[in-house]
Amino acid sequence: MKSLEHYLKINRNRFVKELCEYLRFPSVSGDPRYKKGVAACAKWLVQHCRKIGMEAKLCRTRSNPIVVARTPRRRGKRRPHFLVYGHYDVQSPEPLELWKSPPFHPCIRNSAVFARGASDNKGQHFAHIKAVEAYLKSKTELPCDLTFIIEGEEEVSSPSLVSFLRKNRTLFRCDAVVISDTELYSRRHPTLSYGLRGICGMEITLRGPARDLHSGIFGGSIENPAMALCQMLGQLRDETGRVTIPGFYNDVLPLSLFERAHFLEHPFDGVAYKQSVGVRQLFGESGFTVIEQRSARPTLEINGLTSGYQGDGAKTIIPSSARAKITMRLVPHQRPKKVLAQTIDHLKKLCPPTVRMEIRTDPGSDPYFVSPESEKVQAALEALRKAFGAEPLLAREGGSIPIVDEFKQILGSDSLLIGLALPDDNAHSPNEKFDLDVFEKGMFMSAYLWQALARRVGQSE
Ligand code: BES
Ligand code: MN
Repeated sequence: MKSLEHYLKINRNRFVKELCEYLRFPSVSGDPRYKKGVAACAKWLVQHCRKIGMEAKLCRTRSNPIVVARTPRRRGKRRPHFLVYGHYDVQSPEPLELWKSPPFHPCIRNSAVFARGASDNKGQHFAHIKAVEAYLKSKTELPCDLTFIIEGEEEVSSPSLVSFLRKNRTLFRCDAVVISDTELYSRRHPTLSYGLRGICGMEITLRGPARDLHSGIFGGSIENPAMALCQMLGQLRDETGRVTIPGFYNDVLPLSLFERAHFLEHPFDGVAYKQSVGVRQLFGESGFTVIEQRSARPTLEINGLTSGYQGDGAKTIIPSSARAKITMRLVPHQRPKKVLAQTIDHLKKLCPPTVRMEIRTDPGSDPYFVSPESEKVQAALEALRKAFGAEPLLAREGGSIPIVDEFKQILGSDSLLIGLALPDDNAHSPNEKFDLDVFEKGMFMSAYLWQALARRVGQSE
């Protein structure tokens, strides 16, 4: 282990430079204009994995390619096998004018690298890749086999990965999946997450008059689709923050007293939280703490709302249509299909006869929840403790990683969610960053993790 740790230390600057190379690719999956950036990024990653001594290939799909890389296999005895999952695709960088340095020109400031995808998710899985490099190049024996699956469609619900996993089930059979794509509380509070919220969503379009109309000539006699949509959306939650769709909470697993007590011990500062996002007051479902509201309770959000004239100055029209994108975050045991059906039923009841409603749904993904008491979780906690020099926390996450539940369904494997993103890393926002101190600790954590995991998996067999 000494030479491995030494290797990680002396090569730190080069690792940062390589991460910057990786961050230069505009691998936005949600916008077809970035197709080339996505393809070039995947290719670079394959080459990089080969350079450090892994076998790597680019697996084509209907849309964005999946990168699969394996550590060299030893012949003979079966060793524990772990999957490492990550995604090289990123969210769109808009609004560009709010970035202090351009999103795809990585810049280092205050010991962090700023770029779209820095923490979500390139920096986080790159830490695992560099730990493998340290094993292979320092000639330290890896106590297990590793397969990396780095996909290019996580930010659009992983449409290709599910069938890819099904087809390659035997290749990917493993003792656990390791994922660094969540948050830690702070550098002094490394965090292991045992739950993720699920998600589902839809785009709702209301169509009114055949074209935009003069609002003076026609106003008063014609339904305004933007007004109608706002009135409908406004009825989807009440003033206590509860979603009003009938049946929405039917399948929600209540928080246990044990969990509620545990969350109260987390180092969460409500005032700092409020300030960090720049709001006057917090808002959420009454009867629950902020931590509960944002990780263990379901929500409904409007993600986008468009209609009519949005340019400078005024334009007096009744817009011909209005559109909203909404998503629901789900908790165990809610199912996306059922929630989508309940939502559509309710919207149909709310929709006035003066407009036509069109709905396009996004099937989304199931929530994830695993016991934090397993031996493998203990191994992850041990690696975190050693790398960060602090006692790790157990948490649930509000975000979603669509494929995690599929790993359980298809491969039968649990996922260890070991987050390396700080709360102020600005995922999906302008000025996204990745902390370089966390990057370094993450590499050490990964190096220790394989030892701790292999030892425990070996024992339980
Ligand atoms: N890394 C995030 C998920 C995340 C963020 C989990 C913070 C926990 C804490 C992931 O890349 C992500 O953003 N997922 C999307 C999925 C969606 C587009 C289907 C999400 O949660 O919005
Ligand atoms: Mn993301």
